[in-house]
Amino acid sequence: MIHHPFLNGDRMPMLGLGTWKSAPGEVRTAVREALTLGYRHLDCAPIYGNEAEVGQALAEAIAAGTVRREDVWLTSKLWNDAHAPEAVEPALRKTLADLRVDHLDLFLIHWPVVFRPGVVFPESGADFLPLAACPLADTWAAMEAVRDAGLCRHIGVSNFSVAKLEGLLAAGGSCPEVNQVELHPYLQQPALVAWGQAHGVHLTAYSPLGSPDRPGRLQGAGAPVLLEDPVVCGLAEQHGATPAQVLLAWSLHRGVSAIPKSVTPARLAQNLAAAALHLTPGDMAALAGLDRQARHINGDLWTPPGSPYTLAGLWDE
Ligand code: A2P
Repeated sequence: MIHHPFLNGDRMPMLGLGTWKSAPGEVRTAVREALTLGYRHLDCAPIYGNEAEVGQALAEAIAAGTVRREDVWLTSKLWNDAHAPEAVEPALRKTLADLRVDHLDLFLIHWPVVFRPGVVFPESGADFLPLAACPLADTWAAMEAVRDAGLCRHIGVSNFSVAKLEGLLAAGGSCPEVNQVELHPYLQQPALVAWGQAHGVHLTAYSPLGSPDRPGRLQGAGAPVLLEDPVVCGLAEQHGATPAQVLLAWSLHRGVSAIPKSVTPARLAQNLAAAALHLTPGDMAALAGLDRQARHINGDLWTPPGSPYTLAGLWDE
């Protein structure tokens, strides 16, 4: 497996297991299977509603001798209801308890969006607070404090634009080590990738397969299906690989780690094996031609009437 090296020498496997949309009841088996197959990177979040089950599977795998804790890269995220600086450590401690570990490898601010205290999922625009009421720089300082306290080894962000990253730096914060965003050939975000490379912010791709199981609300009638794209399928055939493997290899060739979700054993194995697929510069050029700014996880949940957030402001586009 290829790794992303952090400045302190820690190494994050470039392919991990995504757990968003993995239902409680199936995620435990998927995590056990993944660890047995050789996955050493699990991507989690409390809002996925399955973190305790991921923790159970990890504990079982450790007890069975499949892995040691130190062999597995564990990422989780700070939900939008816990941006207040005093809420960050309790939120992280809840995740640690659910995952049954004493530290995370990577802890990310999940969204640059703030909910009113007590709101887990907003039902109206009144459930949000504007960023001005709880600045990202203040939340980031609390993230730095939990890292310095040893509760997580690295900190980063998710769904952050270049402008928001620059805002953190301008406020005097340390540079986030990772930005986890939606990235696939239909949403290539070349400027964000280039900015990350120039500033040492590693990018992780969520929904690297185009998230075909995303909630129906986000499907968009007639939207092209990335895993069925003729260029992707053609390259898969040429290489004796699968379309998913082409998509994951594309990400790795850009230096972007990826966290494909699956609960299907054959697909778990297939996705992990994508690290061995070599794409030519010609293949990469063909895939570069597929970009169409198709953001599936567009954040529209955060922009109901009366919300202080807009899509333009969220992505700074
Ligand atoms: P399943 O979990 O039922 O195996 P993303 O990571 O982009 O969010 O995509 C996850 C979706 O892609 C899930 O529906 C998952 O199905 C499916 N999937 C994962 N791996 C593969 C694969 N190798 N081939 C086809 N579909 C896959």
